[in-house]
Amino acid sequence: GINIEYIIQPSPDGLAQAFILGEEFIGDEECAMVLGDNIFYGAGLDEKLENARYDAENGNATIFGYQVKDPERFGIMEFDNNNKVIGVEEKPEQPKSDYAITGLYFYPKGVSKKAKLVKPSKRGELEITTVNEEYMKRGQLKVEKLGRGMTWFDTGTHDALIETASFVQTIQKRQGLQICCPEEIAFDKGWITSDELSE
Ligand code: G1P
Repeated sequence: GINIEYIIQPSPDGLAQAFILGEEFIGDEECAMVLGDNIFYGAGLDEKLENARYDAENGNATIFGYQVKDPERFGIMEFDNNNKVIGVEEKPEQPKSDYAITGLYFYPKGVSKKAKLVKPSKRGELEITTVNEEYMKRGQLKVEKLGRGMTWFDTGTHDALIETASFVQTIQKRQGLQICCPEEIAFDKGWITSDELSE
């Protein structure tokens, strides 16, 4: 019940490049980005996404934080004493918190323009963290923490991939429900008929 268009990133030059390659597709609209190797699961996620969309319509970006044991592997958030985010850093050697920035981002209109100003980092990539820092400096970055009842995986290592697979298997076997079943979602939303669902 949906149409998917795609464009290929010819070389791995960084996440922020998505907004340059996809400039025409985004046009003059708000947009979201989710990394293909990231898995999000938990009750209440829909509502958080709706809120982020609303914030994007009102000119603010949203990033989502998740507590992890190995923060040096990720983009990290830094908080002040009032729990306000005062910094975002890409894979710091000495992480200032254990809140990783997950691979799900909402942006207001104009993110492609911002992405074009990003200079490649030491690892030669256009970092999404630099885009987020820009929004933060302007007071336009919202941070939503995903609590301990939520699950977030970055399946970028073999270990993480197998851990994620067994998590999905455990939940699906226990409940007899599928995690993120596109047909079920499309049917619930009224995008396909019951005949199409059976098919
Ligand atoms: C990317 C981002 C990083 C983020 C991570 C989430 O890392 O650069 O900020 O925490 O995704 O999965 P990469 O996959 O490029 O190592």
